[in-house]
Amino acid sequence: MKKIKSYSYRINKNDFVNAGKVSSEIKKNLKKIGFTNKIIRKLAVISYEGEMNIIIHSEGGGIELEIYEDKITLNIRDIGPGIDDVELAMTEGYSTAPSEVRELGFGAGMGLPNINNCSDDFKITSSENGTKIESTIYLE
Ligand SMILES: Nc1ncnc2c1ncn2[C@@H]1O[C@H](COP(=O)(O)OP(=O)(O)O)[C@@H](O)[C@H]1O
Ligand SMILES: [Mg+2]
Repeated sequence: MKKIKSYSYRINKNDFVNAGKVSSEIKKNLKKIGFTNKIIRKLAVISYEGEMNIIIHSEGGGIELEIYEDKITLNIRDIGPGIDDVELAMTEGYSTAPSEVRELGFGAGMGLPNINNCSDDFKITSSENGTKIESTIYLE
């Protein structure tokens, strides 16, 4: 299917000052195009959790938003230590976030499960060089 539009966002490690800015931007752009609230809500959750994971757990990365005639994809990738045990990381409540990050209100361990739940298709690959998530929402 034909690609209609794409956007690219860069996210820096430990950038708590700008936490949530990329997902807000994504939300704004989707709203402008005229997607339903249901679609926008899912993509907002996925991009927010992806953005926070890059800020908290990686050395930096980015999100690509691609809009096709029949689907929207989010590619969330970073350079970083990666995830040793992806299955464990996908468990609700599992988090390795340090105490100073938890004090800021992050580290509930629900990010990856939420991304999975909000996605129609979800793929995660991780190595010692970084992590990549491909999330797809199909448009009805
Ligand atoms: N991009 C990433 N790079 C390295 N580790 C990650 C990344 N994303 C998630 N993780 C690991 O998976 C765990 C669970 O992630 P998540 O469900 O988002 O919970 P939280 O971010 O609240 O810890 C994290 O605590 C971390 O150990
Ligand atoms: Mg998280």
